[in-house]
Amino acid sequence: MCGIVGYIGERDIKNRLIEGLRELEYRGYDSAGIAVMQDGRIESFKAVGKLLNLEEKTKNFSTDGHGVGIGHTRWATHGKPTELNAHPHMGEYSYVVHNGIIENYREIKGMLEKEGITFLSQTDTEVIVHLFEKEAEREDDLFSAFKATIELLDGAYAVLLVTKKAPDTIFFARKGSPMIIGRNSRGEIFFASSDAPLIGEAEEVSYMKDGTVGFVTSETIHTEGDELQFVPLAGDKMTAQKGGYRFFMEKEIYEQYDVMSDTMIGRVLDRDIHFEEIDEEFLKGISRIKLCACGTSYHAALTSSYLFERLSKIPVNVEIASEFRYKEPLLTDDTLFIVISQSGETADTLEALKMAKEAGLKTLAICNVDNSSIVRLADASILTRAGIEKGVASTKAFATQVMVLWMLSLYFAKKRGSLSEERIQEEIKYMNYVPKVLQKSLEVHEKCKRLSKRYLHGHGFFFIGRDIFFPLALEGALKLKEISYLHAEGYPAGEMKHGPIALADAELFTIALMPKTLLYDKTKSNVEELSARDSTILSISPEMFDLADDFILTHPHNHPMLEFFEMMIVEQLLAMEIAIRLGNDVDMPRNLAKSVTVE
Ligand code: F6R
Repeated sequence: MCGIVGYIGERDIKNRLIEGLRELEYRGYDSAGIAVMQDGRIESFKAVGKLLNLEEKTKNFSTDGHGVGIGHTRWATHGKPTELNAHPHMGEYSYVVHNGIIENYREIKGMLEKEGITFLSQTDTEVIVHLFEKEAEREDDLFSAFKATIELLDGAYAVLLVTKKAPDTIFFARKGSPMIIGRNSRGEIFFASSDAPLIGEAEEVSYMKDGTVGFVTSETIHTEGDELQFVPLAGDKMTAQKGGYRFFMEKEIYEQYDVMSDTMIGRVLDRDIHFEEIDEEFLKGISRIKLCACGTSYHAALTSSYLFERLSKIPVNVEIASEFRYKEPLLTDDTLFIVISQSGETADTLEALKMAKEAGLKTLAICNVDNSSIVRLADASILTRAGIEKGVASTKAFATQVMVLWMLSLYFAKKRGSLSEERIQEEIKYMNYVPKVLQKSLEVHEKCKRLSKRYLHGHGFFFIGRDIFFPLALEGALKLKEISYLHAEGYPAGEMKHGPIALADAELFTIALMPKTLLYDKTKSNVEELSARDSTILSISPEMFDLADDFILTHPHNHPMLEFFEMMIVEQLLAMEIAIRLGNDVDMPRNLAKSVTVE
């Protein structure tokens, strides 16, 4: 995903920008560029490919003394990864970098072209700089012109803009794409898409809220609306990378709002689903799907099996990679073999992928790490764009896997004509709502913290749910096991009476996922059966349930997937708070590794 940096200060501007961009390389990119402004002159450089190419191009360029700069790593969405499409994009006298997607760029471009403006690139971003210069002709001051420009944009953006007409200024705006501003006692100002480039440079940072628009000079930071809240940024990398959170896992749970927007950008469009990684040709001859993965990724696969069958009307089966490898599976070439892996290096999943390839199946990887072994081997791959996940217990990687799979099931539905257009539009509408569901809920976190002290003993936990909430129950149990070392199982709610109910007593903790939009009454009956046998019940539901000992109230939603994502966060927070109370190392639980490269 694109990365943005900005700098105002006395040190060599090019070096600051390129070093910042290097810290954002993990986001993935295919071209890079910078614009440096000093004494009212702007120099801009761009290069396709790795940063090394940009360094080579700028090796004879340096600055001495005060100046301003913006930089960008581009991950192509609109238009190929070429130098012309790389950022910064220029107008007559201004330059812009942008992360996100301007959804109404076609209309804006059409309007500007009619006014005689020529576009050099195929990107959506270029409209911003031309629009700004157009507004600058109309408005009394440049900030008003910038604000007017931003108001005309629909979509998601983090934008930095510099202009010869305001030599010491960077204009900035954020909505839906992350951006952080940092400063230090040397009077330097920094911008970046994540805190990695700011560590060791900025002393305090502000994580901008959606809707922030402002400008900064070496003298002042001005924003419209809410003031920026600055918090200290720790100097050592480890503490600083946690961004004020106690654990990486906690940070990653809270990051889900931002990364989900990244996962969806360019894919969930206004009225369509688009994957540039696959096309109709890729789906030709496919009449069934086999999903294969391990651990949490397996739970994402299992969740999607309900979605593929329900939305795309395509038969699906799901395999645990370590089982699949040795069962002498019967593979037919009308099967699309989808592997799911956060790391892209899991040995069992990789070997399963090799088997499918050898059997001549079409293969697709859903993965978080570009250039990983699984991505390199699969015929096609879709990156989940969750950013680096450091906590061993997977959180944001799971959320983005599920999202990609939901999007994919809708993409299949569209291509196969298995859903009405009206229903597709409805699903898209709810998809667009997911980032909001993932927004910070301090109330829910507080409730999990309080409840955690009651759920530390007992002889086990049963997470129960039906339909897609069954894999979510499996995932909740796995999270708890991994970091609390307490015994937990995930079970289909309707299956409890076929055996496990024998365990029910007051020391058996049942965590009941009770969504209102899917099989509520059925799940309720199953929970009643457990309550009648004295099991201690914690219900997670938008509706109060009088037989529950405890409840965590979720928000009412109109779509099961929205309830799914909200309950997912509750499970993650609950597991983490129990583990913290037990004094465990949440980020590096005993006996576990982040990337399992052995069988
Ligand atoms: C659990 C967890 C593991 C992984 C599993 C597969 O929190 O992270 O269960 O999901 O080891 O790993 P990947 O997704 O990298 O293939």
